[in-house]
Amino acid sequence: MAADTVLRPPPPHSGGARPPRIAADRMPRHVAIVMDGNGRWAQQRGLPRSEGHRAGSVAAHEMVYGALEIGLRHLTLYAFSTENWKRDTGEITAILEGVRRDLDAGRIRDLDVRQRWSGRPGRLPEELVQAFAHEERRTRARTGLTLTVCLDYGGRDEITRAAAALARAAQAGDVVPDLVDEVVFARHLPHPDMPDVDLLWRTGGEQRTSNFLPWQATYAELYFTPGPWPDVDRRDLWQAVAEYGRRRRRHGAAVPLASPRKPPTAPSAPL
Ligand code: IPE
Ligand code: IPE
Ligand code: MG
Repeated sequence: MAADTVLRPPPPHSGGARPPRIAADRMPRHVAIVMDGNGRWAQQRGLPRSEGHRAGSVAAHEMVYGALEIGLRHLTLYAFSTENWKRDTGEITAILEGVRRDLDAGRIRDLDVRQRWSGRPGRLPEELVQAFAHEERRTRARTGLTLTVCLDYGGRDEITRAAAALARAAQAGDVVPDLVDEVVFARHLPHPDMPDVDLLWRTGGEQRTSNFLPWQATYAELYFTPGPWPDVDRRDLWQAVAEYGRRRRRHGAAVPLASPRKPPTAPSAPL
C-alpha cells in the first residue's frame, strides 16, 4: 500500500439504511456468495443478458460496502465459474470486460479492502489477470475486509491443483505422504489462508452450490434467497448475517438439551 493512500469509509446506503450491530459471537468470519440470477433479471426486462451482469456489478459493490460497515473479515464472490465457458462468446466477453471495467473504475480502491483473485490460471485474458495481480500487490497490507473474487473458479479445479502441488512437494521430498492430513493438504490450496466459509448465500432461487468452494464450505450454513442478484443491496447481506446468527452450529457434536429447570429449593425440614 502506498504510504500516501488515505483510506475512506464506504459510501452510505442510498436510502440511509444503517448497519445493524452484530454481537461478536453471532458474526460469521467468512461469507461466500453465489451471485446468481443476472441473466433472468435482464430477460424479465427484455434486456440483453449483459445488462444483467452490469446491474449485478452494482450489487457486488453494495456487498463490499455492507460487509465493511458490519466489520466482516472475509467476503468471497463467485463471478465466473469454470463451467461458465459453455456460454456464448458475447456473454463471456461482457462478463469479463465488466470485471475489468470495475477494476479500472476503482470504486473500492481507497476502501480498507485487501483484494485478490481466485481461479484457474492460464485461460483468462492476461491483462485481466495482471490487473488483479496489481490490485493484490497494492492492497496486501490492508487489514479490513479480504475480498476474494472467484473468476474462472471451480472447486474441483482448485482441489485438483492442490493435489498436484502436494504430489510435487512429495516428489521433492518436502512432504511425507504417510503424514498428509487435512492441515497439510489445505496448506497446498492456492489460498491456504482462506478460512472456512461460515455462511454460503446463493441468490436467484437455485438450491445448489455449483462447484463453489467445496473444500472450504463443508460446514457452511446454507442460505438461499429467491430474488435475482441485481435486486439485492447491502441490507440483504445484513439480513443473511442475521439469519446466520440464529443458526445453531454443532459441527458434529452432540448438544446437551437445555438444562432442566432446577426445582426451587425447599426449605430444609428440621431434623
Ligand atoms: C450469475 O447470473 C452470473 C454468472 C453466472 C456469471 P447468471 O448469468 O447465471 O443468471 P441466470 O441464472 O441465467 O439468471
Ligand atoms: C454459478 O451460477 C456461477 C456463478 C454465479 C458465477 P450458474 O448460473 O453458472 O450455475 P448453474 O448453471 O445454475 O449451476
Ligand atoms: Mg445462473
